[in-house]
Order: sequence, then C-alpha cells, then structure tokens
Amino acid sequence: MDSIPANRRLWNQISSAYQHEHDPRIGATPRLWGMYSIPDAHLHALGDVTGKRVLELGCGAGQWSRALAAEGATVVGLDLSEAQLTAAARAMGAARYPLVQGAAEQLPFAADSFDLVFCDFGGLSWAPPHLAVPQAARVLGRGGRLVFNVASPWFEACYDEAASRVTTTLQRDYFGLNTIAEGDGATSYQLTYGDWVKVLRGAGLIIDDLIEPRPELGTPNGYNETDPPDWAHRWPAELLWVTHKP
Ligand SMILES: C[S@@+](CC[C@H](N)C(=O)[O-])C[C@H]1O[C@@H](n2cnc3c(N)ncnc32)[C@H](O)[C@@H]1O
Repeated sequence: MDSIPANRRLWNQISSAYQHEHDPRIGATPRLWGMYSIPDAHLHALGDVTGKRVLELGCGAGQWSRALAAEGATVVGLDLSEAQLTAAARAMGAARYPLVQGAAEQLPFAADSFDLVFCDFGGLSWAPPHLAVPQAARVLGRGGRLVFNVASPWFEACYDEAASRVTTTLQRDYFGLNTIAEGDGATSYQLTYGDWVKVLRGAGLIIDDLIEPRPELGTPNGYNETDPPDWAHRWPAELLWVTHKP
C-alpha cells in the first residue's frame, strides 16, 4: 500500500497546529526523545555526532536536526511534508543544514552517504518499516548507525479508540497491529518486537541495544491521555532501537 500521498496531505494539513501545540516542549532543549521528552543525556542513544554525516528521517520542524547541526554534525533533514519543511526552515539556527523533501521508503541518496540515520517518531513510524529500514541501511556506510524511537506495541495494544486514551486493558490484538489508520488514508506503522528484529536483521543490521525510555513519575505525555497518568512509568510506551551496519 502506498501511504505517501495521504501522509503528505495529513502532515501538510496539521503542521501548523502540531507545531503550535508541541514545538514549545519538543524544541525546548536539544536532544529530547519521544512523547515524554526524555533527554538523550539519560538514555545515551546517539552519542557524539561531531563531524558525522547525519540523516534525520521525518525531521518535522527540525528540533533534533538543528541541535545536531549546532553540535558540529553534517546534517540533512528529510521530510515528506512541505509544510513541515517550511517550519524547519523558519526555525533553523545559525548552524544551517539542507532540507530535502522525500519519503523514508524511497530515499533520494546514494549508498554510503551517512554515518548516522535516525528519527524520533518520524519516517520509521510513518513509512512501512519493511521498505524504510532497508533504505536506511542502504544509505549508511559500514559501521554507520540506525537509531530510532517508535511507539511500543504495548502502547498501541492498550489504546482505547473510543475513550481516546491509553489504558491498562488490552484493547486489540498484539499480532497483526501492522498499520494504524490515521484518517483519510493516512497511515502509521507498528510492528511486533519479533517483526522489528526480522526487519532489522533482514536489512543486514546488527542490533546493539533496545532502550525502553522510562519517564520519571509525574512526567506528562505530550501527545496522549493515559490512564493512569503514570502509565509509561509502569509499562514501556516507546522502543528506542540502536543498530549498526557491519
Ligand atoms: C511526529 S513527526 C516527527 C518529527 C519530530 N521528531 C517531532 O516529534 O515532531 C512525524 C514526521 O514524519 C513525517 N513523515 C510522514 N510520513 C513520512 C515518510 N513517509 N517519510 C518521511 N517523513 C514522513 C511527517 O511529515 C512529520 O514531519
């Protein structure tokens, strides 16, 4: 299924409201991961990027990309949505970096173009992983790393559609989550733990770590209601995969 046109339409439509609501929190300080804005300094997922060639898949308004560019990485921010890229261009700091319109499942870069490909709820949440992961592996050089944060299957399986909140009850099957309808044909993607391992290993990547970001008690979720509010302190809401190309 080709979700590119519908996902592009959706993000063009919601970009302005999304940035208005979320940028103050996700752009507040550099290197914040996920729905709970957990600092990378606590998780140690990305490491030093000085002098590295870095691609962000689905950079949105570039909160991550501009931070890494300021640290001395040679960053490219890729996103499907021109509205999101316009927001990134507007927010660009003194460390300039190129913005490219494109899809994670069809990367417009040659093999061995990057030392680090990463995203935080970006291209690997919004493109079919069985297409996007091999593309990321292709554009990495040897020893290059693919690091990405996505929602956990726990989070999706406990999401109560009618109540619009994450609960302590299983609401849908774990097996076969696969695609999540986001309205008007837009689609996000969700794999089981086993399927992530298959897709990553199938693309020739080595899995170095699976970090389960755990917010402190009382940390609000910036995106979803959860019941109880400290849901993600008790169960893993996100999966932060750390891999490399041998
Ligand atoms: C939730 S945002 C993630 C960006 C940023 N980390 C943030 O938290 O705002 C998802 C981004 O993925 C982009 N996107 C959607 N489908 C995509 C695709 N197939 N390839 C690349 N980017 C895509 C959207 O335009 C959007 O900017």
